Formats: sequence, C-alpha cells, structure tokens
Amino acid sequence: MKHLAILGSTGSIGRSALAVVAEHPEEFQVVALAAGKNVDLLAEQVRRFSPALVSVQDEAAAARLRVLLPTRNGPRILVGAEGARQVACAPQTDLVVSAMVGVVGLEPTLAAIEQGIPVALANKETLVAAGPLVMAAARKNGVALIPVDSEHSAIFQSLQGHRHEDIRRLWLTASGGPFRQAPAERLAQVTPEEALKHPNWAMGPKISIDSATMMNKALEVIEASVLFGLPADRIEVYIHPQSIIHSLVEYVDGSVIAQLGVPDMRLPIAYALAYPRRLELSSPPLDLCRIGTLTFEAPDLKRFPCLRLGYEAARTGGTMPAVLNAANEVAVAAFLEKRLGFLSIPRVVAETMAAHQAQELQDLEQVLAVNRWAREFAGRIMAPGGYDN
Ligand SMILES: NC(=O)c1ccc[n+]([C@@H]2O[C@H](COP(=O)([O-])OP(=O)(O)OC[C@H]3O[C@@H](n4cnc5c(N)ncnc54)[C@H](OP(=O)(O)O)[C@@H]3O)[C@@H](O)[C@H]2O)c1
Repeated sequence: MKHLAILGSTGSIGRSALAVVAEHPEEFQVVALAAGKNVDLLAEQVRRFSPALVSVQDEAAAARLRVLLPTRNGPRILVGAEGARQVACAPQTDLVVSAMVGVVGLEPTLAAIEQGIPVALANKETLVAAGPLVMAAARKNGVALIPVDSEHSAIFQSLQGHRHEDIRRLWLTASGGPFRQAPAERLAQVTPEEALKHPNWAMGPKISIDSATMMNKALEVIEASVLFGLPADRIEVYIHPQSIIHSLVEYVDGSVIAQLGVPDMRLPIAYALAYPRRLELSSPPLDLCRIGTLTFEAPDLKRFPCLRLGYEAARTGGTMPAVLNAANEVAVAAFLEKRLGFLSIPRVVAETMAAHQAQELQDLEQVLAVNRWAREFAGRIMAPGGYDN
C-alpha cells in the first residue's frame, strides 16, 4: 500500500490521479490533499478517499469547506502556502503527486524533496523556474523525481535499460494545438474560448493556453533539459498532431526508441505512481490500424515565437527560465481575462526577458524574488494602453 499526498487534487491531473487510485484501491491510500478554491469537489474527494489532512488556498475557501464536511472524523484543514507545504510533508507519505498549476507548486514540492519524499512531478513550472536547485535537492536527499508530463514520461520510459552517454538527442512531440494550421493573421483574433479547445487532450486552462501558443513545449524543453541532464540544443521538437507517440530518444547508433499510447493522462500518472511496475487501466487500447497514419512536421517558430523564447531562456540559463515562466503566467492569466491579445503573450514574455539580467541560480529566495520582479514587470507593461487586445 503506497500512501499518497496530492497537491492540486481538484485539477485535471489531480482528478486523473484520483481516478487511478479509485481503479486500484488495493495499491494506494490517500493521506493528504491540497487544492485551491474548488471546495465542492475537494469535499467530495474527502468523502471518497478519507485523507487525514487537507489544505486550501485561503481562509474563505477553508470556511466554505468546513460547512461541507462533518465536524466529527473529518480531516484537519490547513490554509495557504504553509498548508500546502504540510500536505506535501504529511506523515506516512510515500509519494507526493505534484500537480498544482504554476510556480506556486515550487515550495511544497521542494519541501517534500527536502523531507526525502519521492515526487511524481506534473507541475513543470517547478522545474522551469528552479530546475537546478530542485535536482540538486533531489540528489542530496536521494529522492526520485518521476515525470508525469506525458512527453517526459515517454522519454523516461524510453531510457530504461540504456546508458545516458549513448543518447544523441531527445525528441519531444507536440500536437501543435488548436492553431497548428492557422495563418498568422488569424492568430491576432484568437479568443480564450477558441484557445481553450485543445484537439487531443482535456487539460486545465493554463496549460491549454500554453499549448495553443506552444509555450507548453518551450517549458517542456527546459523541463527535459533539467530532468535528463542534456543541453536544450540536444532536445528537438516534432509536431505530431495525432498525439500517439508521446516522445522519443535517439541513440548514438541512430536507433530511436519511442513510447506510444492513447492520449490519456492516466497512463503516465499510473506509471509514475506504480513505477517501476505497471498497472492495468480501463482506458481503451491503442488501435494503430484505426488511426492509420502518424504524421510529423517541423514547428513554425515564426508563428509560435514562444518556442524560440523557451530555447533562448534555456541557453541563457540561471534565472532566465524563471523570468520566462513568470511573465508567461501573468500574460496567460490576462489573456484568459480578455485583457491581452493572443499574440501579445510572447511579446510580454520577450520584453520581460529582455529587461532581465540573468544571474546564476543560488537559492529558493532568489528564485522567488526574480519571480516576483518578473510578474510585477510583466503586469506593468500590460497595463491599459501597454498592449493591444
Ligand atoms: N492537465 C494535463 O493534462 C497536464 C499534462 C502535463 C502536465 N501538466 C501540468 O500539471 C500541472 C497541473 O495542470 P492541470 O491541467 O491539472 O491544472 P488545473 O486543472 O488548472 O489544476 C490546478 C490545480 O492547482 C490548484 N491550485 C491553483 N492555484 C493554487 C494555489 N494558489 N494554492 C493551492 N492550489 C492551487 C487548483 O485548485 P482549485 O481548482 O481548487 O482552485 C487545482 O487543483 C501544471 O503544471 C501543468 O503544466 C498538466
């Protein structure tokens, strides 16, 4: 029986993780859950999985949750960043599922690692903002970081049994998002509603917009570089609209090993939860005859400049990826609230990066300070009149 703490239990990944747990109650017990503000769903999850500890984003959410839960035999309810940290370090936890969205997931994830608790990592912003610090903490504490992102899970699986020095390149696949074939002029008119409609995956709003701008792939290049210890220039991207091949590893002899599967996040989540075992899942089997054709294209960096910015941030290194990530979080939130145009997302990120002098990464406080600066700067340049809408 593995004891799980889940950060972001009410999100898309959190719900899928709990679906895997529900399919395998003999394998897992949920000891702690952290969510944001969706207390109705959190209350349902508490009734179904009986964690001893839960945490929500603020006092107002905690007050609403208390009304929904019985006073006797209910979980302890904590609040805010400290609450999330305590969930990540809950007693008895064997594995933390890190699935909050955004850099807010960094502190609790790092806290779990420092307690020696292994992490199934979905929250890519953690590795983008502070990758070298997180990896150093994992090494120091002998903690496994198992990727949940489908591309990184595919690479992790394709690396099993092979030598790191035999890798030539990694190939990340990308669906290309809803605007893969849209002409540049069309992108100026994109609305949040259109951008949220991903062709293959059902995901949370922030990552859906990141997929539409291809910032998601930029974040994943940085994530892969950190996780697998390769420079970004040895990490390539294929557009693969069917999302069947989840990523590939090319070895020095020219052999390429890939992982395939239906686009269902329960697969990489279950692999991370049970690693190195595999669990039976109820998702439909992959039927390659029905799919018929798998296609590949090179990404268009002119229409999707976010991917170019990701490579730039990775090459610069230090605090620059944290700046890219922070500016993007602020720009995506503004786009979702219709305060910023779709094409202005990469402009805000580029301008914030240009205003930053990258420093060598030192510690968490520095990353959080740089994150605050970049959010404030991006917010300022987006102020009314700053960018088109
Ligand atoms: N979705 C996917 O298929 C997918 C695939 C690969 C990687 N990922 C990565 O996994 C992470 C989660 O993505 P998602 O799509 O699951 O996001 P999501 O559906 O938006 O869920 C985000 C979760 O984080 C919680 N949260 C947000 N802000 C919080 C805060 N300040 N304090 C505490 N909790 C907070 C939310 O709580 P409430 O909803 O209760 O407010 C929710 O539980 C992201 O880093 C994403 O890039 C996702």
